Amino acid sequence: MLFDSHTHFNNEDYTSLERQALFNTVDKAVKQGKMSGAVDIGFDLPSSEMAVEHARQWDWCYAAVGCHPHEAKTMDEDKLDRIRQLAAEEKVVAIGEIGLDFHYDLSDRDTQRYWFRRQIRLANELMMPITIHAREADQEVRDILVEEGAFSEERKEHFGHAGVLLHCFSGSAEFGLEYVKMGAFISVAGPVTYKNNRKTVTMVAAVPMGRLLIETDAPYLTPVPFRGKRNTPLFVEYTANKVAEIKGLLPKEVAALTRDNAKRFYGIPK
Ligand code: NI
Repeated sequence: MLFDSHTHFNNEDYTSLERQALFNTVDKAVKQGKMSGAVDIGFDLPSSEMAVEHARQWDWCYAAVGCHPHEAKTMDEDKLDRIRQLAAEEKVVAIGEIGLDFHYDLSDRDTQRYWFRRQIRLANELMMPITIHAREADQEVRDILVEEGAFSEERKEHFGHAGVLLHCFSGSAEFGLEYVKMGAFISVAGPVTYKNNRKTVTMVAAVPMGRLLIETDAPYLTPVPFRGKRNTPLFVEYTANKVAEIKGLLPKEVAALTRDNAKRFYGIPK
């Protein structure tokens, strides 16, 4: 029973027909007992509204609401208020994805920093888990999370962990372990299956199984052997297989353990 902990049914490149077909495929996999669910992750206000709508429509679908660093330039106080309202909806399980992206720099860095901090504060206020996007900003993301109290004792007491998830984590084994020690979860996507990605393989080997999640980030980051094609939540299976190979476990054991971890992170009932 695979669980895709981070996907984008709300991606604006899908036509409504394509999106419907995608939902039907995942729904079929759920009915066949192959998948147990997925979290549709917001990246700006419209995509967060959509994620909430999708979670209403499909019982196996959950939503995260928030603004990605790329879209930080579109944020304002009214939109933050609307995200706060959406976060109160049933089946909204996290604030995210939020963070810093200094690779593309699609919003200026101070704007990214400002809305990253504001959304961590929102997650603290609402006592909700946080899904993090970090690219070429690993150290600063960590520092801001610490400064804004994402690893507070209050959060740890509430969740039984810090309620922080590093999505598609590309850091070193040492950095991954540091996050785990701080109470975070680590998620890997398709890139762990790419040839020559020794860094992520080594990181997965080091991080305890109890803190590891798998995801697709579909429609992006398609795993081998489908690299180059559009990704779908069903392909989370290939990431599970790779993690199984690294950990010396059976694919079905990895599927079950990562599903349980995802549910524990997001606070989704079993
Ligand atoms: Ni994403």
